[in-house]
Amino acid sequence: MAALLRRYGAGARWYDVLSGERWVYRAGREAGIRLLDPRPGDVVIDLGCGTGLNFPALIAAVGPTGRVIGVDRSADMLSVARRRIATAGWHDTVTLVEADAATLDPAVLRAAAGGRGADAVFSTYALSVIPERAEAWRRATAAVRAGGRAGVVDMQRPRGRWRVLEPLALLACATGGADIDAHPWRLLERDAADPPRVARAERKGGHLVAVAAALAPSVTA
Ligand SMILES: C[S@@+](CC[C@H](N)C(=O)[O-])C[C@H]1O[C@@H](n2cnc3c(N)ncnc32)[C@H](O)[C@@H]1O
Repeated sequence: MAALLRRYGAGARWYDVLSGERWVYRAGREAGIRLLDPRPGDVVIDLGCGTGLNFPALIAAVGPTGRVIGVDRSADMLSVARRRIATAGWHDTVTLVEADAATLDPAVLRAAAGGRGADAVFSTYALSVIPERAEAWRRATAAVRAGGRAGVVDMQRPRGRWRVLEPLALLACATGGADIDAHPWRLLERDAADPPRVARAERKGGHLVAVAAALAPSVTA
């Protein structure tokens, strides 16, 4: 566990450059935010937000009356996120919560959302890194209001002619401590209010999977 945490420790300042964001992973987060479709005024929880790479698109969508709540347990990743917020002047729009998502009390997130449930939870490339992902997911969705939405973007083994890149995908996942076979979007498929209306997109030969849906009332606040 400590080894995993170290991966998002001192190296956090290099994460945006070395994580393959530009060539690979940005395509997944863009697809995920499009499917989640946050609205002006929404409060969105970014679970395992890391350095805040989702913030620009989320903030553009929720606007000045909305809010993004970034949750991460790595102080070093959050310190990069904090610099991003300061540079962009997002102090009024983003709240950061330093916590282990697998033990975080959903009441803390509801309080950060202004005392009501958040409108959505979004998680990119984080649930595959969290061994207790089902518990982290349960706690995050419990902070979403009834009728709220969720989006998950994560990785799987590439398919078809892209399979030649599987060793590279495995290396990227091993470096980041991610389980490429975790398929955490299945938690959202399980908890969707209306399974036939789950939206899904794949990018980079199926290596990146984005899923979004309205949550079932039984799992929300
Ligand atoms: C691969 S990074 C993804 C960061 C960001 N979501 C993105 O798309 O770039 C995984 C993040 O999950 C965070 N993380 C890992 N385990 C966690 C836990 N139990 N609770 C909260 N955050 C966790 C790490 O600190 C790291 O910032």
